[in-house]
Amino acid sequence: MSVHIQNTRLTTTKIRQMKQQGEKISMLTSYDFTLARLADEAGVDVLLVGDSASNIVCGNQYTLPITLDEMIFLSKGVVRAAQRALVLVDMPFGSYQITDDLAVANAIRILKESGADAVKIEGGQEVVPAIRRMIVAGVPVCGHLGLTPQSVNQFGGYGLRAKEAAEAEKLLADAKALDEAGCFCIVLEKIPAALAERVTKAVSCPTIGIGAGAGTDGQVLVLHDMLGLNEGFKPKFLRQFAHLAEEIHAAVGNYIAAVKDSSFPSAEESY
Ligand code: KIV
Repeated sequence: MSVHIQNTRLTTTKIRQMKQQGEKISMLTSYDFTLARLADEAGVDVLLVGDSASNIVCGNQYTLPITLDEMIFLSKGVVRAAQRALVLVDMPFGSYQITDDLAVANAIRILKESGADAVKIEGGQEVVPAIRRMIVAGVPVCGHLGLTPQSVNQFGGYGLRAKEAAEAEKLLADAKALDEAGCFCIVLEKIPAALAERVTKAVSCPTIGIGAGAGTDGQVLVLHDMLGLNEGFKPKFLRQFAHLAEEIHAAVGNYIAAVKDSSFPSAEESY
């Protein structure tokens, strides 16, 4: 007996083709089944189980505390929801920096245990040996340059990166190295738009920007931020496409009032 199960999700090959065909790539973060299902049904191309889950889901100040086990747990729900979108998972801090052996073992764990399609890691030429090992092992990899939040302690904050010529030239060289190593795409976070455009023209794989202007091959935003769930967070690069915090406050307020005045549940809502 043979079993043939069709994977309906976009592949890394398709994501690469989108650059060649001039079709912009949409990526959003996702950390749970319900919101992943809605974003997938709406047609997003890539669902990123970002380590920003450390902030958004767990309430940590930084991305550093989230563990590999926690990332795999969250990824499973997103994978169950994704019918069309490629599922990309962030390798958390400490899971790929120690040795290349550990990096490839942890990347394999993510794909094996969650069913996701690819992993993302932060860094330039220093992570190329690990990336090569992962790709040889069959794990597609997305790079991440510019503001790399796992290095917040080195940067001393979340400011714009690569403003100066030396850092810009290094970022360009890093992007070329990631491209040559075989990354299927590269996230460019919080760098000048002109530099992001230069990088995009210099590499064969797609670039996905966040706070990197309009000249990249695609865009990524944190889903909760673009839905307006984090009212206080309004950096220049963020567009709020909805204002769900207001709606949730109103809905919860209405619910509380209805419980208090006994108008909920009504006869129709009772058995
Ligand atoms: O973890 C994350 O949300 C990310 C995006 C900001 C690209 O890496």
